[in-house]
Amino acid sequence: MAQRETWATRTGFILAAVGSAVGLGNIWRFPFVTSEGGGAAFLLVYLLFIFLIGFPAILVEFVIGRRTKLNPVGALRELGSGVWKYVGYVFFVTAFVILSYYSVVAGWFVRYFIIGVTDGYDDAVGQYEGEAGDDTIPAELLFDSVATGLDSILFHTLFMLVTIGIVALGVRKGIELAVKVMVPSLIVLLVGLAIWAATLPGASDGYEYYLSPDFSEIAANWTTLLPAAAGQAFFTLSLGMGVMIVYASYVGEDRNLAKDGGIIIGFDTAIALLVGLIVFPILLTATPDPDGELLFASPIGAIFTAVADAMTEVPDVLGLLFFGVVAVAALSSAISILEFIVAYLMDEHGFERRPAALLAGGSVFALGVPVTYDLVFLELFDYFADSVLLVLGALLLVIFVGWVIPDAALDEVSKGVDDIGSAGAAWIWAVRIPLVVVLAITLALGIVDYVGFLTGDFADWISANL
Ligand code: PHE
Ligand code: NA
Repeated sequence: MAQRETWATRTGFILAAVGSAVGLGNIWRFPFVTSEGGGAAFLLVYLLFIFLIGFPAILVEFVIGRRTKLNPVGALRELGSGVWKYVGYVFFVTAFVILSYYSVVAGWFVRYFIIGVTDGYDDAVGQYEGEAGDDTIPAELLFDSVATGLDSILFHTLFMLVTIGIVALGVRKGIELAVKVMVPSLIVLLVGLAIWAATLPGASDGYEYYLSPDFSEIAANWTTLLPAAAGQAFFTLSLGMGVMIVYASYVGEDRNLAKDGGIIIGFDTAIALLVGLIVFPILLTATPDPDGELLFASPIGAIFTAVADAMTEVPDVLGLLFFGVVAVAALSSAISILEFIVAYLMDEHGFERRPAALLAGGSVFALGVPVTYDLVFLELFDYFADSVLLVLGALLLVIFVGWVIPDAALDEVSKGVDDIGSAGAAWIWAVRIPLVVVLAITLALGIVDYVGFLTGDFADWISANL
């Protein structure tokens, strides 16, 4: 492969990586899996995963990328041998599966943005006023109508077309600028909404649910909490798929990878935590329950339901900005995934950029269509990608760095660092043993969980619908 450029500006790498990391993982998926995992119990396991596993794991991808200056498939082929060259195919499958439903969910954000512009949230939610029952609120019914059917497929199409267009044209510069504007405005908006949510009657119940973990719940549910938290940690940090290998392949030797990794993780985690501070007070205000249980039918729609409900009390423009900014954040993440597939097709199979973008984007679009038909397909794809494929990808990379190229990795991580002391060796040790063990156990639990879903909920759906 020809010589690689490094990022034009010193912050280019961080901006691109933050643009990939910050997205639906923080804003849609985080509150959704947190409520499925019981709130604070999930949050604690998730935070442990982010800092104890996510941080060493992001460094694993960074050192592979900067060392080889190649795409993940090429990198593993060059550094490893034999079976390692096939690991790239796992990433390829993961990227396809994730982007397919990512685009559908991103389409919902675009749809909600449009609702704010045309009908206003008050009217849109109000039309379901009469239909809501004891355990549903009108805003939830609005979500149901957006999530599947004609609207859903329309906005999936739109979102995918824009993603394909940008990747086909290869416009890198625009993305750096978009991230520079998007991340600060997202943080300002989220802080504003969190302050407002703090004034709600359900705020203290919401905080309790979100922030005060019941340790007996963790002990009782660890076999499901572990794979769910790991899947969310890798998803939100764009790990386990090789995307961060690609970004790091453009990084100069003078950058301190550990420091940059810390900044990226810090932004991503702060944004997710803020989202929780908004969603749970709103939801526990809308559906208060004496036992502190969350009473909404579809956790998948938690963020949509919460924000649309909130917008009936605050000016629509806030909601409009929120959904709009998130759609942009989702776009920069989606681009990072499609760009990853396209780079692979170009580097490894001699494709031109435009046909590669069209072919890959078109197939991803088709794969996402069933999701717009029934949300059971969202679960089918999302659980498989996150609790199985991303964890598998991360495990393979960790084994690779820890056992196949530990010396090169130690050398690489030391570059750009003033005095690494024994930190580098500690990192290699953590990667070689604890990370491999934890990820192997998590993967096994994730597979068991997923098989449970296939033979349970999914089999039920099939027999009810076919
Ligand atoms: N990290 C992105 C998000 O939080 C999603 C993503 C996953 C992007 C994997 C690239 C690779 O939305
Ligand atoms: Na994220």
